[in-house]
Amino acid sequence: MSKQNKSERLEQLHQLKEKSLHGGGEKRIEDQHNKGKLTARERLEILLDRNSFLEVDALVEHRSYDFGLEKQKILGDGVVTGTGTIDGRLVFVFSQDFTVFGGSLSEAHAEKICKIMDMALKVGAPVIGLNDSGGARIQEGVVSLGGYADIFLRNTLASGVIPQISAIMGPCAGGAVYSPAITDFTFMVKNTSYMFVTGPNVVKTVTHEDVSFENLGGAITHATKSGVAHFACENEGECLLAIRKLVSFLPSNNLDDTPLLKSKDDPNRSDEKLNFIVPENPNKPYDMKEVIKVIVDDSDFFEVHQLYAQNIIVGFARLGGRSVGIIANQPSVLAGVLDNDSSMKGARFVRFCDAFSIPILVLEDVPGFLPGTDQEWRGIIKNGAKLLYAFCEATVPKVTVITRKAYGGAYDVMNSKHIRGDFNFAWPTAEIAVMGPQGAVEIIFKKEIEKAEDKQKAIAEKVDEYRTKFANPYIAAARGYLDDIIEPRETRSRLIKVFQILENKVDSNPKKKHGNIPL
Ligand code: HXC
Repeated sequence: MSKQNKSERLEQLHQLKEKSLHGGGEKRIEDQHNKGKLTARERLEILLDRNSFLEVDALVEHRSYDFGLEKQKILGDGVVTGTGTIDGRLVFVFSQDFTVFGGSLSEAHAEKICKIMDMALKVGAPVIGLNDSGGARIQEGVVSLGGYADIFLRNTLASGVIPQISAIMGPCAGGAVYSPAITDFTFMVKNTSYMFVTGPNVVKTVTHEDVSFENLGGAITHATKSGVAHFACENEGECLLAIRKLVSFLPSNNLDDTPLLKSKDDPNRSDEKLNFIVPENPNKPYDMKEVIKVIVDDSDFFEVHQLYAQNIIVGFARLGGRSVGIIANQPSVLAGVLDNDSSMKGARFVRFCDAFSIPILVLEDVPGFLPGTDQEWRGIIKNGAKLLYAFCEATVPKVTVITRKAYGGAYDVMNSKHIRGDFNFAWPTAEIAVMGPQGAVEIIFKKEIEKAEDKQKAIAEKVDEYRTKFANPYIAAARGYLDDIIEPRETRSRLIKVFQILENKVDSNPKKKHGNIPL
């Protein structure tokens, strides 16, 4: 090869690479910006450590000859793929480019995504997908549908092996929604992203409902009503930084340790505030998030599903530098009761933590399961069973602190000793019983109350008696159902100690293909 030829070839390479950076062209990039959206590459710049992005398949083109597509070939074919790092740790990424055929998924586009998913699975690193797409490339027909199915299969096979994170940063409609739905966490951006199986026009035709894109499938809808979105972010920048933060808590794969992030927060720090946080009146609420913030390193709690089923709190924090997954009843919302949505929310989170060896901390203040026809007809039996099943099958270190109420089946469900809680503690304010005093008294003393002249007085007396007997943790402690009753202010140091003890815990379940969680 002559010198001249060589430089020409280099020039050709540079030109192609340069061209591939511009997606669908300046006009479409401007349109994208005018919608308040970043481009596929701008998003990766925020998501990944500076200069860490290593692109693959920038020169891939589609292979379609129908509807004039052969005259419209754009390098990369609408998705930017490759690897990068977040806080120095390897991740695989794909970022759909709406400026190229509306980010629609062609056969080649799907192959690019599958390629990085396959590699991520082999090397054991998370996959982060930034979705901004008009769905299946209409001109390619069934080939595009096949491409989606190839992705769904990989999402499923990778589930529980590497963390999979989806961000929806534009449209995500039709069957395309099922890839994010299978992944572990879905982020959405308010006002610029939407997800639905069928859009407002189809809804109008079929059900005659008038509904906007945002109301049908926007970030707030999915973060509050359906629970499809775990995070609803104000803007794309916030969304991408939140993904970085999430990744900081996660191991890279199911065989990896959770990252250790040493903090200056004293592991022996005690806080008097906890001794007084539970109100004297057992019917008065308090905010369990305050408890969490006092206990964890640097008060840093990364809440997941913050707007959905707020009667249960789930999220990540660190104790002594190691990630823990926290599942906590929230007495300030519906008294912290377990219902359909909160059971499912909790179950999914427990299973994620267990799949990725993230120790579980349960903070318990639960008056039981929510009664009512709505709950029963929507399947509180099978949905509550999901949470129970998830705790039962989890083999990661599992620690429970009962701060106040642990009533009824909910006592068993919330990682009780009986279902392999490793360390179970209670504060002296704990009340552990089959049901709350009022309900219990009306059942077991029904006849006496009926006979009493002053019924209210009789009930009050019996409630007092019941409370004295059961509204404490000592009966459970006497049986060994609790390992200790601790002063609330010592909770942080005690938890750090026991999670350290459990660091090398090994436990397993009977060999099976897979269990049959009540779906
Ligand atoms: C090919 C597409 C496309 C698609 C958009 N474009 N969607 N090209 N296949 N699915 C192209 C447009 O032709 C246009 O090209 C450019 O992308 C931008 O689209 P606009 O319509 O101008 O943008 P906007 O007004 O913002 O509307 C975005 C949109 C709309 C709401 C997403 O484009 C739309 O409704 N697209 C079709 C959505 C859809 O029905 N997809 C199939 C879903 S079924 P130019 O050249 O003008 O820039 C599905 C099945 C998956 O996905 C099954 C998996 C099991």
